[in-house]
Amino acid sequence: MGRIIRKCKEFKGEVIVGADKSISHRAVIFSALAKGESVVENFLLADDTIATSNCIRQLGIEIVADHDKLRIKGKGLKGLSEPSSILYCGNSGTTMRLLTGLLSGQDFFSVLSGDNSLNQRPMQRIIKPLSEMGGEIHARANGNYAPFAVIGKPLRGFTYNSPIASAQIKSALLLAGLTANEPTTIVEPQKSRNHSENMLKAMGADIIENGLAVTISPGRELIPQTIKVPNDISSAVFFIVAASIIPGAEVLVKSVGINQTRAGVLEVLEQMGANIKKENESLVNGELVADLVIRGALLNSIEIQGEIIPRLIDEIPILAVAMAVADGRSVVRDASELRVKETDRIKAICSELGKMGVDITEIEDGFIIEGNYDNLKGVVVDSWGDHRIAMSLAVAGLLATGATKINNAQVVDISFPEFWERINDLNFT
Ligand code: S3P
Repeated sequence: MGRIIRKCKEFKGEVIVGADKSISHRAVIFSALAKGESVVENFLLADDTIATSNCIRQLGIEIVADHDKLRIKGKGLKGLSEPSSILYCGNSGTTMRLLTGLLSGQDFFSVLSGDNSLNQRPMQRIIKPLSEMGGEIHARANGNYAPFAVIGKPLRGFTYNSPIASAQIKSALLLAGLTANEPTTIVEPQKSRNHSENMLKAMGADIIENGLAVTISPGRELIPQTIKVPNDISSAVFFIVAASIIPGAEVLVKSVGINQTRAGVLEVLEQMGANIKKENESLVNGELVADLVIRGALLNSIEIQGEIIPRLIDEIPILAVAMAVADGRSVVRDASELRVKETDRIKAICSELGKMGVDITEIEDGFIIEGNYDNLKGVVVDSWGDHRIAMSLAVAGLLATGATKINNAQVVDISFPEFWERINDLNFT
C-alpha cells in the first residue's frame, strides 16, 4: 500500500496517539507470571503487542480482551505450559527476546520464530548470556538467528557486564533471573529504558537498581496489578516533531510516558529550540506521564552521541527529519545499534531523505546532515518495511514541496495502526 502526503497548511488541536508498545509487552508478560488476575488498561492493539499476547495465550494463560482492556489470569512464575506449536513473534524483537529469557528457565520445550526481518536480527546477544546461566538454546546460523529452540533448564544467577545498552537484553535476563537459583546482576554501559524494573518493583519483585546495575533476586511470587499503560512517546514524537517544524502549529498530546530513561528525544528537541511544555505531570504505575503542548518554532542544529543515544534510540529516524530542516550541520554518532533494528535504519533514512533532497551522509555509527528549512521535496520513497521509517517520511512529507508518496506504508500497523488516520486529519495545501 502506498500513501500520498502533501504539504501541511496548518496544524492545531489535539492528537490522540497509541499506547506504549514497550510497556504493553511487559504488562502482558509479567501479568502472566503473577499469581491471580491482572488488568491492563490502554493496552496497545498493534501487530507487535498482539504477537506477544498470542504467544502468552499459547503458553496456557487465559487473556480476556475487551477492546484495549485485558484481564490476564496469571499462574505464577512456574505456571506456564509447553506450547504445542511454534511461538510466532512476527516483526517484534521485544517479543522474541523477552520470551526467550522467560522460557529458558521453564520446564519445557519451545520454538520461536518471526518474519523475514526478525529472523535476520542478532539473537546471540541474548543466547550467549542465557547459556552462561545454564540455558539451552539451539539457533540457526551458528547460534545467532531465529528460528530457535529453547529447552528449559534450571538456571544459575550470575553477573553480566553487557557490551550493549539494551533493554531487551536486560529484560530477558531479568525474566530468566526470576527463576534462577541465586541473584542475577546486569550491568549496562549506559542506561537503557527501565520499564521492566519499574513494573517488577510494582509487582513486589526483589529488584534493586543501582546506577547502571540492576539486581534481581529469585524467590518472590509477583503480585497481580491493575496497569494503566501511558501513551507512547515513540508514537507521539512524530506529531511533536511535525508541530515543531510547521509554522504556527499548536498541538496537545495527552498522557504521554516521559520516563527519563526513554524520553531523551524531548531533551534534544528542546536543545534544538523546540517549544514543548509539559503539563499535569503524574506518576502512574511507577512511570512518569504528562500532557505535552507543542508550538511551532525555528530549530537549530545539534550533535548527539554517548549516553543519550539509548534513551532515544527509536526516535533517531524522526530526529533526522527535524535535523534536515534545522539550521546548520547536525551529527548523530554512537548509534550503530540502528543497523540491527527492523531494518538498517541508518541506511534507510540516509537513502530516503537523500531522495527528498536532504544533504545527508552516512557514517558507520550515524549520519551527518546539512540542515536547511527548504530542504525537502516530495518524491516517491519507501518504508523499507520499517514502521518508524514510514512515519518519519510521512512527517518529512508534511513540509516538502509537492506530493510525497510513501510505498509499503501499511507497516505502521506494527506500532501505531491509527497513524494514517491521524495524518489524514491534518489540513493539506
Ligand atoms: C525495546 C528496546 C529497544 C527498542 C525497541 C523496544 C524494549 O531495543 O529499540 O524498540 O521494549 O525493550 P534494544 O533493547 O535492542 O535497544
